[in-house]
Amino acid sequence: MNRTVILSLLAVLFVGFLINWIYSWEQGLEEAYIPITDDTELPIIPSEKAVFERSEHAFDYLNMPVDEEHQRVLDTYYDNRAYPGAPPSIPHPVKEKLGMGGNICLQCHQNGGFVEKFNAYAPVTPHPDMINCKQCHVEQRTQSKFVDTEFYKKPAPAVGVNNALPGSPPVIPHQLQMRENCLSCHAGPGAVKELWFDHPQRINCRQCHVPKEAELEHVQSFVRYSKQIVDE
Ligand code: HEC
Ligand code: HEC
Ligand code: HEC
Ligand code: HEC
Repeated sequence: MNRTVILSLLAVLFVGFLINWIYSWEQGLEEAYIPITDDTELPIIPSEKAVFERSEHAFDYLNMPVDEEHQRVLDTYYDNRAYPGAPPSIPHPVKEKLGMGGNICLQCHQNGGFVEKFNAYAPVTPHPDMINCKQCHVEQRTQSKFVDTEFYKKPAPAVGVNNALPGSPPVIPHQLQMRENCLSCHAGPGAVKELWFDHPQRINCRQCHVPKEAELEHVQSFVRYSKQIVDE
């Protein structure tokens, strides 16, 4: 009797182990995550889809008063990045030491808003679907311990010099990968003031703004085709 119980317990454990193992193995086969797509024939342009998703906020941005006391500036924006386009470090304390962030970070970074205890507006993340925040963003541990190195920080593209003619739409001087929500960096109180523009309601940005080819020469936007299309 006892032996049957133990044996069936072992059997259950073994089946459990198998299910778990197969499940994680299959998960491991999944491609690295690149946000995009449904099953249409045409590859969808990933690089600004989030603007359309968040277009309901466009008019809010347009009507928000400017809070001059708490504007972010381009200098601190670049200061917080190892090089232009690198993930910024987390400039504020994070209570949860374990875990990857996810919803905890999104409480403030999904829609932004003023955060009393940091005395600043939270910048809206351009990629709310990438929930493992700390995979790329890490806390600043120290301001003083590291010694300077020879690391060459590529200069950032200049702002305000990208128009072919006075009044024509400037080209986009940066890559588009990880920047699907143009509004998150260019509109709203959490955005850097030098990057603000006055037409967040024209949500089809790339109808008028084209990427500067030189910036994109070596880096192509990823397109993740649906599995079905890849298989064909
Ligand atoms: C209580 C609200 C709040 C929470 C929770 C929060 N943040 Fe922030 N975060 C802010 C505010 C406000 C700023 C702007 C700070 C400043 O400008 O001084 C900020 C700034 C940042 C920046 C710098 C952005 C830049 O462009 O330089 C990063 C990166 C960041 N947070 C990541 C995270 C991550 C990752 C988490 C979760 C582990 C998180 N934050 C949780 C409010 C929050
Ligand atoms: C795969 C890496 C990766 C993951 C995961 C990721 N980020 Fe980012 N994040 C980046 C990079 C790279 C940038 C800088 C984009 C740029 O400047 O081109 C960035 C920029 C930001 C900014 C700055 C926006 C601004 O206005 O300056 C915030 C805020 C931010 N991320 C928050 C988050 C939060 C919150 C999460 C989790 C929900 C997250 N990120 C997950 C790579 C990542
Ligand atoms: C992660 C933040 C971020 C996102 C998202 C982002 N940008 Fe930018 N943008 C910048 C920064 C920073 C600059 C200043 C130059 C630089 O450092 O690349 C800039 C510069 C520009 C300029 C040139 C402005 C001028 O006056 O010269 C245009 C146009 C532009 N961006 C359009 C877009 C469009 C369109 C999108 C969406 C496809 C977008 N940006 C998404 C951060 C961002
Ligand atoms: C109908 C065409 C059109 C659309 C759509 C459009 N823009 Fe513009 N944009 C312009 C023109 C024209 C200028 C130059 C204005 C000037 O120099 O007076 C400009 C300027 C800018 C600038 C430089 C700052 C400034 O105010 O001069 C940024 C940043 C920008 N646009 C971002 C965007 C983003 C992000 C979107 C999508 C949400 C967008 N634009 C949609 C035409 C457009």
